[in-house]
Amino acid sequence: MLKPNKIVSSNFLSSLDISNEEVINLLNLAQNFKNKDINIQLKNKVLGLIFDKSSTRTRVSFQVAMSRLGGTTIDLNPTTSQIGRGEPIRDTARVLSRYCDALAIRTFKQSDLEEYARWSSKPVINALTDLEHPCQALADFMTIKEEFNDFSKVVLTFIGDGNNVANSLILCGALLDVEVRISCPKGYEPNSAIIKKALEISNKKDFLKIINDPHVAVVGSNVLYTDVWSSMGEENKKEKKDIDFDGFNINNDLLKKAKKDAIVLHCLPAYRDKEITNEVFESKNSRIFEQAENRLHVQQALLASLLS
Ligand code: CP
Ligand code: NVA
Repeated sequence: MLKPNKIVSSNFLSSLDISNEEVINLLNLAQNFKNKDINIQLKNKVLGLIFDKSSTRTRVSFQVAMSRLGGTTIDLNPTTSQIGRGEPIRDTARVLSRYCDALAIRTFKQSDLEEYARWSSKPVINALTDLEHPCQALADFMTIKEEFNDFSKVVLTFIGDGNNVANSLILCGALLDVEVRISCPKGYEPNSAIIKKALEISNKKDFLKIINDPHVAVVGSNVLYTDVWSSMGEENKKEKKDIDFDGFNINNDLLKKAKKDAIVLHCLPAYRDKEITNEVFESKNSRIFEQAENRLHVQQALLASLLS
């Protein structure tokens, strides 16, 4: 078995911070943790959690992952630390990285996350920014691997907003040679710099397709994936987006047009009967709660790699 400390050795700010070989090794290590056939102890190691936005899954799965590894976390709530008062990132990062062994940060701008990493003497992990959600993508592809095993035959169709989750699926999909289709209304396409980078690293011809009509996009798909139409921080756009995304929800009609054994994923939290119908959310095709569980296993693998 590959030593975890050879997989990821520094920051994890973007899916692009690891190679295709490293993603595969990380997913295998996560499966070892899930099967309970590996025991790595990070005794006394401390992970600092800085969350400028709400979180259930990411925060708790990092806490439980550290606890299972024999380490601890400190929840550095910005409203009760000096972060909320506006202490500069370069000062906060230099101080916290003298106490903690790694920092997991959820914030708005990717450039703020990069500023933390620039000044931190310890690894920084992206726990979601407006641009990327790379830990989520690891859990998503672990769930897909559990179902289909061979990535090269998988078609993953994301229906909804070309947001942080879509961006990370594109990048991680490029690393793993998965065909990724994005179905969004015109004007809501994923970040163009992300698309450019993904096309540069993918070995698969035509790996990425932007198809506005979801009924066309889902044909031949093995995985249907969606996320909220308005992300955290976009509350003022919600009314307009609800109108613009009409027709882009995953319902039975769409599911029937995908492959017979297609699975349905959602990173959660979900608005039932907006981006996905309750019927599909609760259907036998849904792997949404397996996907949520896998957040724990991939983050355990990531922390073991960074800190052992
Ligand atoms: N999927 C996800 O990141 O969930 P939380 O916002 O609850 O962390
Ligand atoms: N796109 C969503 C994901 C939440 C996990 C958001 O950024 O709010």
